[in-house]
Amino acid sequence: MNYTDYLDLHHGRFILELTEFLSIPSVSTAPEHAADVRKCGEWLVNHLRKIGFETVELHETPGHPIVYAEHCHAGPDKPTVLFYGHYDVQPVDPIELWTNPPFEPTYRDGKVFARGATDDKGQVFLHIKAMEALLATTVLPVNVKILIEGEEEIGSINLTSYIEQNKERLACDTVVVSDTPLYGPGLPSLCYGLRGLCYMEIHVQGPNRDLHSGSYGGSITNPANALCEIISKLKDSHGRIAIPGFYDDVIDLSVEERAEYAKLPFDAEAFKSGLDVPSLFGEEGYTTLEHISGRPTLDVNGLHSGFTGIGAKTVLPAKASAKVSMRLVANQDTEDIAAKFTDFVHSIAPPSIKVDVVNLHGANPVLVERTGKGMHAASKALKDAYGKEPYFTREGGSIPVCIIFDTILKAPTVLMGFGLQDENAHSPDEHFDLDNFTIGMKAASLFYTYMGE
Ligand code: BES
Ligand code: MN
Ligand code: MN
Repeated sequence: MNYTDYLDLHHGRFILELTEFLSIPSVSTAPEHAADVRKCGEWLVNHLRKIGFETVELHETPGHPIVYAEHCHAGPDKPTVLFYGHYDVQPVDPIELWTNPPFEPTYRDGKVFARGATDDKGQVFLHIKAMEALLATTVLPVNVKILIEGEEEIGSINLTSYIEQNKERLACDTVVVSDTPLYGPGLPSLCYGLRGLCYMEIHVQGPNRDLHSGSYGGSITNPANALCEIISKLKDSHGRIAIPGFYDDVIDLSVEERAEYAKLPFDAEAFKSGLDVPSLFGEEGYTTLEHISGRPTLDVNGLHSGFTGIGAKTVLPAKASAKVSMRLVANQDTEDIAAKFTDFVHSIAPPSIKVDVVNLHGANPVLVERTGKGMHAASKALKDAYGKEPYFTREGGSIPVCIIFDTILKAPTVLMGFGLQDENAHSPDEHFDLDNFTIGMKAASLFYTYMGE
């Protein structure tokens, strides 16, 4: 039997196994789920053993464990591919907006609905099944190493030191990751750029307690007003970020790249109406596609202050805080941006309040090679599986470890994703298209096969 027939024949069982994998609530940020995260890692370890990996290990970290496996029997003349993915998922709230419970996978309209379905369990699982099919019907055409972590959604905090400590063991020629979307339904893409992230929190402290707004109003700076004043100065009316030096290390989009952006099919009108906004707004001089993937951003993610219940309460809040995140592009550095942000916030804060700025976490941006053996194999695999040449795209999200593969392992990363933009990653009713699961297994099998040729 060839591997394609194997994939077809065992599809039903794959769905049952995927259901099991998706049922484990591996929410990495929630301390109460720590045991579930571990259980999920152990589930993967058992599964990889079952499909024929001999070296399979669960590596402890100060946080959640890392799953590592190897199958390096293709011989020294064959390349080594490191598959990376994450088995942790985002929290489920607001839970009341889910049609079905997030950890009871539900199949409807050709999709599986569950937290982690598209990000990233479904995409991890299609690689595992591709490897199973190859192992069961022929041999793995390349040496394969597998690295699946449980902390991606919290910034891969322990992965860098793990890779540093195990860099000989993780040595490889190419890294492959499936944790990005296709360009659109039926339109494969190879992602060559991911944004970084710098996630900050601003705490403004006013008086030592909440105050009657009649008795005290007018005599002190209200921390909520002060916070708004600070936030309003972070960006100008043209959508430019006003932090001094913010753009210093940005590699500008080249003329060629902008021309390629312009050729991608994109319907700004549909994008706008899909969001129910009166109009789009972004940094002057750039297109919407460039705004969401090729340019840095600064956005308030959350605001907290004062009375937020129904009706009116006449009160001056004692404190106010905001969560502000910046998406970064190559070659901005998250620590450098955090320092510039902190200095600027202090410099514009009114002297009549106290301000504290905290760096929550971050990730560095990455641009990967568009040529080379891995990209070539992926491009051929996607073309054969989808019947269409893949687009080269940049994505606005972040995968913190990608830059580490480049700097420590010195290996190029291939970002060959099978999700769809609107599969509600991080939101209620997250789902994964089962056609892309099926085609993805074929594409992944082809990718490993072409890598071995
Ligand atoms: N799979 C995403 C990254 C992604 C999202 C790539 C959209 C391309 C398009 C990943 O799981 C993710 O959510 N990353 C976080 C990283 C953060 C927690 C450091 C992100 O981008 O917010
Ligand atoms: Mn992901
Ligand atoms: Mn995610």
